Amino acid sequence: MTEKVLEVKNLKTYFRTMEGTVKAVDGVSFDLYEGEILALVGESGCGKSITNMTIMGLVKSPPAIIEGEILYNGKNILELSKEDYRKLRGKEIGMIFQEPMSAFDPLYTIGYQLFEVCKTHLGLNKKDAKPKIIEMLKKVGIPEPEKRFDEYPHEMSGGMLQRIMIAMTLITNPKILIADEPTTALDVTIQAQVLNLMKNLQKEFNTSIIFITHDLGVVSELADRVHVMYAGKIIEKSDVYGIYETPEHPYTKGLLASRVIKEYKDRELPHIPGFVPKATNFPDGCRFAERCSFCTEKCQKVSPELIKTSEIHETACFLYGEDTNEKDN
Ligand SMILES: Nc1ncnc2c1ncn2[C@@H]1O[C@H](COP(=O)(O)OP(=O)(O)OP(=O)(O)O)[C@@H](O)[C@H]1O
Ligand SMILES: [Mg+2]
Repeated sequence: MTEKVLEVKNLKTYFRTMEGTVKAVDGVSFDLYEGEILALVGESGCGKSITNMTIMGLVKSPPAIIEGEILYNGKNILELSKEDYRKLRGKEIGMIFQEPMSAFDPLYTIGYQLFEVCKTHLGLNKKDAKPKIIEMLKKVGIPEPEKRFDEYPHEMSGGMLQRIMIAMTLITNPKILIADEPTTALDVTIQAQVLNLMKNLQKEFNTSIIFITHDLGVVSELADRVHVMYAGKIIEKSDVYGIYETPEHPYTKGLLASRVIKEYKDRELPHIPGFVPKATNFPDGCRFAERCSFCTEKCQKVSPELIKTSEIHETACFLYGEDTNEKDN
């Protein structure tokens, strides 16, 4: 295995609200290795974005309660000052979002905004920055980059802005890139282009990527490893092959089944029955128990920890080793 670039250890991010404490992230641990694409997958509200916003230092605490450790270069970055975190964010860890417009200021040209990044984080002047910016815009597939340099964000299409946001993030050559649903807002063909682009750039720069999505289909081509989240916890970890070919947790199996059946458009939309428990009121036992066809008394009482089921596979389910495959009917 290559070197670990980030270690997240027992991370908890809680929010106090009128309805009680929201346990958005509740004891999440994972490692990110050099040059890998790690996908974080799970239904809406399971804590994917908050996990990564906490890594980026973008969750204000207090009021939020943050516990655990995030080790980068051997240092717990949760202890960094605001100023040091800002530096880390610009240069070492980059993030791209679902909505590219939010990353740009509508009042300034694309060229100016990329220049600001080069000035702040690389100490470049205008003359040296411009060729670097043009080259980067070319790399992400922007046609006529010299012309685009002097244009404004509203003059770009959504797909183009997404590419420019990727260019803006990668221009400082960060070690880690966090991509939070970067293609969800794009139409399907543009989505595929942006995913390909990310994969190629990742190879070229050897960046480690955390790729967040609720769509298991998107990651099958892209990721090296996949972690599945449910209700604030990671419930299964493996490489792509392990998740797709030999899924172990009933929730992962359900997600995969939904994905397959979705391809038959005229059939009823599949779903895993029931709802994710409220983040203010998680049960003591397995958080998936309510929705699981195989749930036992123990599952309702005790919360399962991740256990190693093979060299690369971990699953948090007491029923591992038993048949937890839904029967076709
Ligand atoms: N500032 C906040 N105060 C209270 N609760 C919050 C806050 N931010 C997020 N949450 C809650 O934390 C939980 C996790 O949210 P998060 O945004 O990480 O989900 P997600 O997995 O990224 O979902 P999606 O796929 O919809 O983006 C949700 O229950 C959400 O409502
Ligand atoms: Mg999210």
